[in-house]
Amino acid sequence: MFVFKAAVVGAGTMGGEIAQVIAAAGVPVVLKDIDQRFVDAGLAKAREVTQGQVAKLVAKERITAEQAEAQVETLLGRIQGTLAYEDLGDVDFVVEAVPEKMAIKQTVFSELDAATPGHAVLASNTSGLSITEIGDATSRPDKVVGFHFFWPASLMRLIEVVEGDETSPETAQAAAAFAQAIRRMPVRCGECPGFVVNRILMSLAAEMWRYQDESGVSAEAIDEYVADQKLAPMGPFRLADMTGLDTGLKVARDMVEAYGDRFYVHQGMEALVAAGHLGRKSGKGFYAYDG
Ligand SMILES: NC(=O)c1ccc[n+]([C@@H]2O[C@H](COP(=O)([O-])OP(=O)(O)OC[C@H]3O[C@@H](n4cnc5c(N)ncnc54)[C@H](O)[C@@H]3O)[C@@H](O)[C@H]2O)c1
Repeated sequence: MFVFKAAVVGAGTMGGEIAQVIAAAGVPVVLKDIDQRFVDAGLAKAREVTQGQVAKLVAKERITAEQAEAQVETLLGRIQGTLAYEDLGDVDFVVEAVPEKMAIKQTVFSELDAATPGHAVLASNTSGLSITEIGDATSRPDKVVGFHFFWPASLMRLIEVVEGDETSPETAQAAAAFAQAIRRMPVRCGECPGFVVNRILMSLAAEMWRYQDESGVSAEAIDEYVADQKLAPMGPFRLADMTGLDTGLKVARDMVEAYGDRFYVHQGMEALVAAGHLGRKSGKGFYAYDG
């Protein structure tokens, strides 16, 4: 299946950058959210990422500053921000990136089922919810598939293509082909808690979260150690802030429920989320953020 036009639903931490990745591959994309503020924030993120990419080319003297500016405008011109489902009437592939809650996902998928052409693939960026259950909310569960990007989507090359019970082989194949078309590496996997990457990542993070709760060593000190030793680009507390504490907490809870105490829910993270501190997107998490 050729994707002439795509859509991204949810313009938050992931959605703006996912739209940027799709537009950078030359595919027109509609970016939908429920409030113009969020649409604008997603478009601003896409612009910021693109400006960063072309600035590197200018620094290497591969293109001029004028060409860079033109490239930014061309790419941004392929992203149409919207609040209306009517703008999804001619899309071939949708990536849903709304909050990690089954009730919200099912509502959005039933709306997408009504708003998009019958042939369109409806893909979810869920970090771990059941693709089968999400597909149950539609009349086309065979065309529902997981399409799991990693943060930051503009840099991370992997996409997990997750098959639910009803996902057809054609749909999984179409999703893997679209991943390649937008210059990503698809990894096909079955539906299980954590899929592949989070099952590994969360087991590593769990040890550090457990250690912090038990020892009282500061989150900052652990993050600094991890970054200084080059064990990872950033430590687990900074990463959790960047990716959203609500999302991280949900995934951690699901992993404990599925696999037991090999995984761990950090008490400090639970307290922050209960107080409405969700990391960078809300201005405060383990760290405080300006603007
Ligand atoms: N944050 C990460 O690092 C990360 C990584 C991979 C996958 N994911 C997954 O991506 C999805 C989105 O996560 P996020 O971190 O971007 O969340 P987020 O909270 O930053 O953004 C969600 C966006 O969805 C919008 N939204 C809510 N209801 C909507 C609706 N009915 N229609 C359209 N838009 C709606 C919100 O306004 C918000 O802008 C989740 O399933 C999450 O598990 C997140």
